[in-house]
Amino acid sequence: MKKKKVSIIGAGHVGASTAQLLAHSGISDIVLFDIVDGMPKGKALDLSEACPLWNSASSVTGTSDYAETAGSDVIVVTAGIARKPGMSRDDLLKTNAEVVSAVGRGIAAGSPDAVIIAVTNPMDVMAHLLFKTTGFPHHRVMGMGGVLDAARFSTFVAWELNVSPGVVNSVILGGHGDQMVPMPRFTTVNGVPVTELISSDRIDALVERTRGGGAEIVSLLKTGSAYYAPAAATFQMIKAVLFDEKRPLPAACYLTGQYGIDGLYVGVPAILGASGVEKIITLTLNEKEREAFAKSAGAVAGLVKILNI
Ligand code: APR
Repeated sequence: MKKKKVSIIGAGHVGASTAQLLAHSGISDIVLFDIVDGMPKGKALDLSEACPLWNSASSVTGTSDYAETAGSDVIVVTAGIARKPGMSRDDLLKTNAEVVSAVGRGIAAGSPDAVIIAVTNPMDVMAHLLFKTTGFPHHRVMGMGGVLDAARFSTFVAWELNVSPGVVNSVILGGHGDQMVPMPRFTTVNGVPVTELISSDRIDALVERTRGGGAEIVSLLKTGSAYYAPAAATFQMIKAVLFDEKRPLPAACYLTGQYGIDGLYVGVPAILGASGVEKIITLTLNEKEREAFAKSAGAVAGLVKILNI
């Protein structure tokens, strides 16, 4: 069987960490693309030299030439700038929109059948921009944000209950921004809803910490934003696509009427497989959840409007 090919556009913290997970697992060949002269080649060489130690047969290529990304099965877009303390994800809008538009134009022709995963923030809007600039069907363009936010919520729930984090299954809706909507009613510990296990005051505190989870790390790092968990979240989505897993994950998907929203990328639970977003799961929301989701989606729509896309 021919090895799969994953290209990562933007070989910075998130991009390189994702490449590391791929190379370590050996599940695909990897192309690391960046505009910084020499840097993607240097990181690719470094990763290549780790492969014998990992018993991995992945080939890792570094480049600043889009031609080398041709024939990719999955393309991850992390190119752009990351947050500094005091910045919201939305402050990155204009700069990253220019970068991501150029990326969309650069990758489309060579990999017409690829599934694209947007990571660059503000991520929901960047997914929309990649959908527009590549001209790909919307089910083959999605955004990574929900998997990360859900992992953060799962972490805090696990700490609260002193249970293994892997048994917490979090559901999260909305944009990957400060108004994201963690969903305690649907978040379970081995099938038991957290609403049965944690007081509502404490749940509210965990939800707030999740909403500010990215900013909490930015304020500690001071020079950039999180990358280990973002890379792990991206890796999980890549695997769902490469192995056609049909895995339900929260992803930024293009809605066409679901949840009363039409023509917008926003985070919802979806089944991910070889063709990207294979099915959007529509949960029945209560009034409070509906309001919170509408507010979060409204914030994304506001940014899309600024870009006029
Ligand atoms: N084409 C390709 N790569 C680019 C371009 C471009 N036009 N412009 C910038 N880059 C590269 C930078 O050279 C840098 O190596 O994107 C990379 C971004 O890496 P970092 O600055 O380390 O940022 P990172 O922490 O990886 O975050 C990337 O993901 O999580 C989001 O908010 C985060 O938007 C940010 C993105």
